[in-house]
Amino acid sequence: MELLHRTIGQFRTTAIGFGEMPLTIEGKPSHERAIETIHAALDAGCRHIDTAWAYYESGGEEETGEKLVRQALQSWSGPREDVLVATKVGHFRNFTEGRPTWDVDGRPETLMRNGRQSAQALGRDSIDLLYFHRPDPKVPYGESIQAIRQLIDDGVARAAGISNVDIEQIDLARTILGDRLVAVQNQYSPISRGTQDTLEHAEKLGLAFVCWSPLGGFRKTRDESMFDPFKKVAKAHGVSYQQVVLAWELSKGDHMFVIPGAHRPETIVDSLHAGQLELSDDELAILG
Ligand SMILES: NC(=O)c1ccc[n+]([C@@H]2O[C@H](COP(=O)([O-])OP(=O)(O)OC[C@H]3O[C@@H](n4cnc5c(N)ncnc54)[C@H](OP(=O)(O)O)[C@@H]3O)[C@@H](O)[C@H]2O)c1
Repeated sequence: MELLHRTIGQFRTTAIGFGEMPLTIEGKPSHERAIETIHAALDAGCRHIDTAWAYYESGGEEETGEKLVRQALQSWSGPREDVLVATKVGHFRNFTEGRPTWDVDGRPETLMRNGRQSAQALGRDSIDLLYFHRPDPKVPYGESIQAIRQLIDDGVARAAGISNVDIEQIDLARTILGDRLVAVQNQYSPISRGTQDTLEHAEKLGLAFVCWSPLGGFRKTRDESMFDPFKKVAKAHGVSYQQVVLAWELSKGDHMFVIPGAHRPETIVDSLHAGQLELSDDELAILG
């Protein structure tokens, strides 16, 4: 069965992508397992992979996520040219008091350099979709976005996205990027609904909205009770509650995309089936 497809800018791809992050940061599986997991997603029909320059372990080799995606695509026998690969620049890994951290560097020169490195690590002449990962409070947002625009105009990337943004930042980015801007990637899930306004704003502007950590994230302490209504609906359909969560997110509009992460084939393959799950109006009303 073909998976649910939707449109991001000039791309037609699966509404459910694969968030690569868990495969190359702290707690990652073996390299073989990671490749196997990406291959399982692709074999199941997934045509959208989300990675980032900063998906590597603090203190480790940079860009291991992008390199893994390149290796997985090169060793896959399917139509790799059909796969939308999205990456992000603007974060790097560091330590604070011995603990791994995610730090930001939104200086234009860093973004320009990292964007070119990302294209090289991915083994692509041009990155399909390049996000500015997170606003850097030390750099005016417009200056960072100008660098993303330059990367597109130089042919390093084909389309732009922005991430971890509010409405004001979306509007500013759109002024600078125009039609080059195709996607907003913000955290959104049953336990992170605070970005609802940006989801609605993206729809009004004709931008895709990509939910990150759509299942609530794999490492955060969760208030599990917030998933109870999803578990109840899942029981009625005989599917995992994760599928119900993803189907609920996708029901928020045709501009909605989700990029669940996974450490193993079983979970991502299960998640990919959420696009086929039809929730009734009554069920959606209960889920909110
Ligand atoms: N733009 C940003 O700033 C930003 C920030 C964070 C994340 N992201 C992106 O968002 C992606 C997803 O976020 P995430 O990885 O933090 O968390 P997530 O997708 O909310 O949750 C992933 C966890 O859910 C589990 N899971 C997935 N599908 C499942 C299923 N069908 N049944 C049971 N369990 C399932 C996985 O289990 P297993 O571990 O057992 O496989 C994994 O532990 C990342 O990979 C990354 O690409 C972007």
